[in-house]
Amino acid sequence: MAVIRSVIIGVGAYLPEKVLTNKALSKKVDTSDKWITERTGIKKRHIAADNEYTSTLAIAAARQALIRSAIDPSDIDLVILATSTPDQTFPATAVTVQAELGIQRGAAAFDIQAVCSGFVYAMTVADAMLRAGPFRRALVIGAETFSRILDWEDRTTCVLFGDGAGAVVLEAQPQHGTGDDRGVLSAHIRADGRYRDSLYVDGGPSTTQTVGHLRMNGREVFRHAVGKISGIIEETLVDAGLAPDEIDWFVPHQANSRILDGTAKKAGVPMDRVVVTVDIHGNTSAASIPLALNVAVEDGRIKEGDLVLLEAMGGGFTWGACLVRW
Ligand code: UT7
Repeated sequence: MAVIRSVIIGVGAYLPEKVLTNKALSKKVDTSDKWITERTGIKKRHIAADNEYTSTLAIAAARQALIRSAIDPSDIDLVILATSTPDQTFPATAVTVQAELGIQRGAAAFDIQAVCSGFVYAMTVADAMLRAGPFRRALVIGAETFSRILDWEDRTTCVLFGDGAGAVVLEAQPQHGTGDDRGVLSAHIRADGRYRDSLYVDGGPSTTQTVGHLRMNGREVFRHAVGKISGIIEETLVDAGLAPDEIDWFVPHQANSRILDGTAKKAGVPMDRVVVTVDIHGNTSAASIPLALNVAVEDGRIKEGDLVLLEAMGGGFTWGACLVRW
């Protein structure tokens, strides 16, 4: 039976030029390359220049995704930008992207705030809107400048995060309604607000009227991560009628290599099928999945027809998974 699927027709990314290595960080705070590498797998991260904002990064990533999808910005009728570090409290950073890229004036544009799960949330919402109509082509972006909300004196958090942006263009296309279809085959998102104090920012417009800094109980996040992610992966695969050994590429949120290893093992995906970028990007929150997708498309690993599994878990707690045939 013919169905509409949201097919990824282009991907793009942008990383700020400035690189901060573990060695350079260990001169700022009481840490070491050894500790960061052993506990997280991170070796370096990118940091936005003073004149680069989340919108700057998002626009660069989106521009590349649009060029690669060979469509005109005026063909985009939906912009969803996942971020926890917007340019301003409002308007949404998505409308800046819309204006700067010359996207349709009548398009819908809004931000999604689900911290590290933001890109999976944005994909899920975009997919639902494309399948329901009348939207035809969506620009889905994950963009962050976490360097702006880090407490650079807190070694337990400042070593973990980096800045960057990634984007995909989704197009509503008729498919056959089987597991061989191209596009989003299954997407699931969840939240459990009882854990909202495990990873949060201690400021905001309604409470402190300040931007605030990121605070995290790392052990608590770690304790929940593998279980929550494994559960949602299983649900997503069952819903699509597909098995773990059919996954060509597993592209997880890049928070910590120990979480990545544990999740892949539990999901039954061998490590040579896992796209790992946490070593070179650090944790870029909502940007990490599209940044990793871009690396694996550029180096030729992800090809048309491949089954790609995305997943993330982060502040809230929020978590989710999305199964896409490229
Ligand atoms: O995107 C989702 C968001 N976040 C995550 O996924 C993070 C999940 N959590 C984690 O990745 C890990 O919990 C961390 C990497 C944050 C921490 O690793 P851990 O193995 O849980 O370490 P810990 O917090 O138990 O700390 C162990 C020790 C402590 O010292 P004591 O109390 O044992 O003397 C910390 O003070 O390591 C110390 N420590 C550090 N030492 C050097 C904490 N941060 C650092 C540091 N450098 N940067």
